[in-house]
Amino acid sequence: MNRRTALVSVAALTAGLTLAGCSSSDGKPELKVTGAFMPQPVSDMAAGFLVVKNSGGASDRLTSVTSSLSDDITIHETKNQTMRMVTSFDVPAGGELDLQRGGNHIMFMKLKQRPEQGDKVSVELHFEKADPIKVTLPVKETTYNPKKP
Ligand code: CU
Repeated sequence: MNRRTALVSVAALTAGLTLAGCSSSDGKPELKVTGAFMPQPVSDMAAGFLVVKNSGGASDRLTSVTSSLSDDITIHETKNQTMRMVTSFDVPAGGELDLQRGGNHIMFMKLKQRPEQGDKVSVELHFEKADPIKVTLPVKETTYNPKKP
């Protein structure tokens, strides 16, 4: 346990004391995935987008993504229109991790097949603390970009 983790744990514990009796999820991330999709790929690369909401009392981190579609899946952030691989994304307590077009995303390289609009792609999200979550990404048209509510 490094110093940063220790500090976070103390904060989570304090929050737990204040909220004692209110919730059984104190001190643990409670994750839910919404809005997942994959734009139909136009090459042997694809991107995935989704939102991970954390209603729990502790932060978590998305650390990796796996899928039978590709053995080469990484997570990328986009800054100044340049994308860069990162080792994890923060999923803050009471907040969300938002992967959306033009921003952070899941990157699938060397696709084993090229999914088409209407297909579904199964992926598994892996987190630092929470159990892995299986997510189905519906494949949308290449330019699909939902408006945030
Ligand atoms: Cu990328």
